[in-house]
Amino acid sequence: MKIFVTRKIPEPGLELLRKDNEIVVFPFDRVPTKQEIIKGVKGKNGLLCLLSDQIDADVINAEPNLKMIANYAVGYDNIDVQTATKKKIPVSNTPGALTDATAEMAWALIFSVARHIVKADKFTRAGKFKGWGPMLMLGQGISNKTLGVVGAGRIGEAFALKSKGFKMKILYVDDKVNTTLEKKLGAKKVELSELLKESDFVSLHVPLTKETNHLIGEKKLKLMKKDAILINTSRGPVVDEKALAKALKKKWIFGAGLDVYEHEPEISIALKKLDNVVLQPHSASATFESRTNMAIMAAKNMLAGLKGEKPPNCINPEVFE
Ligand code: GLV
Ligand code: GLV
Repeated sequence: MKIFVTRKIPEPGLELLRKDNEIVVFPFDRVPTKQEIIKGVKGKNGLLCLLSDQIDADVINAEPNLKMIANYAVGYDNIDVQTATKKKIPVSNTPGALTDATAEMAWALIFSVARHIVKADKFTRAGKFKGWGPMLMLGQGISNKTLGVVGAGRIGEAFALKSKGFKMKILYVDDKVNTTLEKKLGAKKVELSELLKESDFVSLHVPLTKETNHLIGEKKLKLMKKDAILINTSRGPVVDEKALAKALKKKWIFGAGLDVYEHEPEISIALKKLDNVVLQPHSASATFESRTNMAIMAAKNMLAGLKGEKPPNCINPEVFE
């Protein structure tokens, strides 16, 4: 079989694919254009793509013998799954492989924002540190505070569980009761408005869907505490970026830590001008461990799909019904 990989991924994944297949990897270290993806997919049976690739109907219909789409990501809002399903093409993602890495990044952002790590580093390097100061770089304490987890799925749960040493009160929002969080942390399931009003740290862990698009806008930001910190490692459009920039500028909240953006890779100038927000380049899953596991997982999904078997992480199992 022939497989198109839209960008170089860690070798262990490519090795698995190469064993019995012919693979073509997009040769440049950048996001391919839609035309380049279409060109790449022509004559191939498998498409291994990244979250930065828009896999729409034009791409899916470009090759009649396309049998499998493996996304190198847990989120799959970049793929027109409906069209793939109609064409009986299985689509897979990489759940689990990046759970801890993403949860860890959410914590890294909490610490960075709460304790001004980025701003303080710049300050220190610039030679502005003239001696210990009782009022220098005052930030927010974390222990014994209230943590708000929006979306208590795999990543939200792992994120919340990591709070254990900080003796925090945990609130969460989800459609379902998370018994692990309730049993292990005494977490309480609440409405989003209550979570926003009560939490000192609000971290978003929902997938991007029609329902979660702009879940956090101006009204919701106004519900948050003045000292609160908002963390987004999910998908950019879950937050109305313009409203967030306004909230940060007007100090409705203390700060924000973002790994994702509404119009990625563009970041609004208003946000970039503010020093109470820490900006990461969508790198929450970027640990050696996680990216290697994602590559192996995506490859295993691809190999199963090409054999006509249900991939271990199939998003649209109805294809096999
Ligand atoms: C990262 O954003 C992912 O969905 O894997
Ligand atoms: C801080 O460095 C302290 O000793 O209080």
